[in-house]
Amino acid sequence: MPPALLQIGALHHEPQALLDARYDVRHWPGDAAARPAWLAANGAGIEGLVTTGGLGVPPGLVEALPDLRIVAINGVGFDRVDLAAMRARDIRVSNTPDVLTDDVADLAIALMLNCFRRLPAAERHVRDGVWPRGEVPLARRASGLRYGIVGLGRIGQAIARRLSGFGGSIAYSSPTRRPHLGHAYHETLVSLAQASDVLFVAAAASAATAHMIDREVIEALGPNGVLVNIARGSVVDEAALEEALRDGRLGGAGLDVFAEEPVVPEGLRELPNVALAPHVGSATHETRAAMGALVVENLDSFFGGRELLTPVV
Ligand code: DGY
Repeated sequence: MPPALLQIGALHHEPQALLDARYDVRHWPGDAAARPAWLAANGAGIEGLVTTGGLGVPPGLVEALPDLRIVAINGVGFDRVDLAAMRARDIRVSNTPDVLTDDVADLAIALMLNCFRRLPAAERHVRDGVWPRGEVPLARRASGLRYGIVGLGRIGQAIARRLSGFGGSIAYSSPTRRPHLGHAYHETLVSLAQASDVLFVAAAASAATAHMIDREVIEALGPNGVLVNIARGSVVDEAALEEALRDGRLGGAGLDVFAEEPVVPEGLRELPNVALAPHVGSATHETRAAMGALVVENLDSFFGGRELLTPVV
């Protein structure tokens, strides 16, 4: 009998086919109200959980899976998994680092360019047939600026590599460590924001980084500044961000992540100086296929008695 898995987020179609072929994959009901009864009837015997970075391990789920031995996250972030609880039950956890780094960094640059070059407005101009009658929408130059990066891990470094072609300066602040990579280091986020035209948020979410980008940091970035967040919504004080954008105390924002996904506050959706994306940093066919393949490889290794390829716990 193949091991039984509960899957609460689909993989890309190729790795999904592998998963379906090698495991007894079960899906819980789409209707959240029906899940407790489903889990009570089907939870025993499930040894693996396949989830996404955004969903993690929802509260109460581990308790409903008495035989759970591994959680395979289809994503790099593990902020929605209670690692202490996993350790206490000796449940292993894997994620999918590295394979998504370039795509997430690309999206950060795209959001910055959208904010400065106003691509949606330019596209509307063409689609609405305004061109060549009306004035083309003038934008702001995105190159040669002062770029700040919060969190210089894998994704932060990939953003820095891309920015090195933009001809400005690069500075950073890091909540966890201080690598020496030739960029100016700022001890505080306020100091980094004051020294930046664009501030990229690339720090992992945790209790320590929650609302780290607060009102003070946002205001230090200032009325011409742009905030780009491709990390997690919880790292930014979203209410303070919306207020500053509305009042002109912050120039613009490029956001791929939000505090309560998939909810994007109406205020943010209405603002013209915001570029929005539905948490699609890793959402290319290539990367989603690679992430899914890594999920399956981790599960195969675990159930084959081998080491996890990319262990978290
Ligand atoms: C990740 O991999 O953590 C992405 O942000 C998806 O949640």
